[in-house]
Amino acid sequence: NTEPIILGIESSCDDTSAAVVCGRKLLSNVIASQAVHSAYGGVVPELASRAHQQNIVPVVSEAIKRAGITKSDIDAIGFTRGPGLLGSLLVGNGFAKGLSMSIGAPLVEVNHLHAHVLAHFLYEEGEEDHAPEFPYLCLLVSGGNSQILVVKSPFDMECIGQTIDDAAGEAFDKCAKVMGLGYPGGPIVNKLANIGNAKAFTFAKPNVPGYDYSFSGLKTSFLYTLRDELEKDANFIEDNKADLCASLQSTVIDILMKKLRKASKDLGIKRVAVAGGVSANTGLRAAFEDHRDRYGWNIFIPKFAYTTDNAAMVAVTAQFKYLAGETCPLNLPPFARVTV
Ligand code: KG4
Repeated sequence: NTEPIILGIESSCDDTSAAVVCGRKLLSNVIASQAVHSAYGGVVPELASRAHQQNIVPVVSEAIKRAGITKSDIDAIGFTRGPGLLGSLLVGNGFAKGLSMSIGAPLVEVNHLHAHVLAHFLYEEGEEDHAPEFPYLCLLVSGGNSQILVVKSPFDMECIGQTIDDAAGEAFDKCAKVMGLGYPGGPIVNKLANIGNAKAFTFAKPNVPGYDYSFSGLKTSFLYTLRDELEKDANFIEDNKADLCASLQSTVIDILMKKLRKASKDLGIKRVAVAGGVSANTGLRAAFEDHRDRYGWNIFIPKFAYTTDNAAMVAVTAQFKYLAGETCPLNLPPFARVTV
């Protein structure tokens, strides 16, 4: 087998993850999630860095073990350089550099957002290789991003539209917060939406040009509905939780799909992928299936395991860069902020 063996390391937020691929085939993917943050209603950066520091060695060791390889088999080490929390990134970046020195394998820096988009190129043992052909459209939706990309090659992604204010995940999280639903709100809203009536409430939809998004108006309209109704009925939220969630979720999905349909139609591209944390949303996944059936789209929906932060997508992205000779020096600093 001439395909390179790549170790991927991900530590951008609150999941410590390591994965091994051989070419685009996944050999192992280990994730240690940090339960410590739930008590605080959000990720606490200082605690995240400390937990990464505790987790990184066991997680990498386990990924190597489960892949059935030894350290000396690794051809290159891919690591998330950013964007993310600086303290968290520093742990993964520092560890990757130390390991690179120790085993003599080159480093490959990976942009976390890039990795979400390229997660579709992974395949597992016994699974068919279902990678999209280029060019394809990718809706990248997470807690910090909502954008439409035209993916022309593993290295060439053009952002044709993005949110001008909040991200889709942020809209879920913020609306969930005002309903007192815990963090992160997205998955909780999703669960309640499954038993609610999506037509019960109507919230404002944005009117922004091109392929751009906006979610702040929806958030305000959601807040005003709660405020007005709570004046009349103190139990309003409690009594209408599922309907509120279903209506919110369907509005977010309508907003996302409208621009994506426009992009697909204008550019004549029917291969359409979704990626990022919000791609776990079952309503959004169903909307993709509906568009496949109605418009003949060829859709690419990640497995649930690859919607959240994971090193498998980092490893597969590093694999593309390694094959193109794009290794990096050992003195790179991490970057906290950047887009695709
Ligand atoms: O990509 P990601 O893990 O990292 C960040 O960008 O932080 O995305 C996290 C976001 C959060 O806003 C979370 O609420 C949202 O993805 N999310 C969901 C679902 N699962 C995660 N939103 C809606 N429905 C879901 N099932």
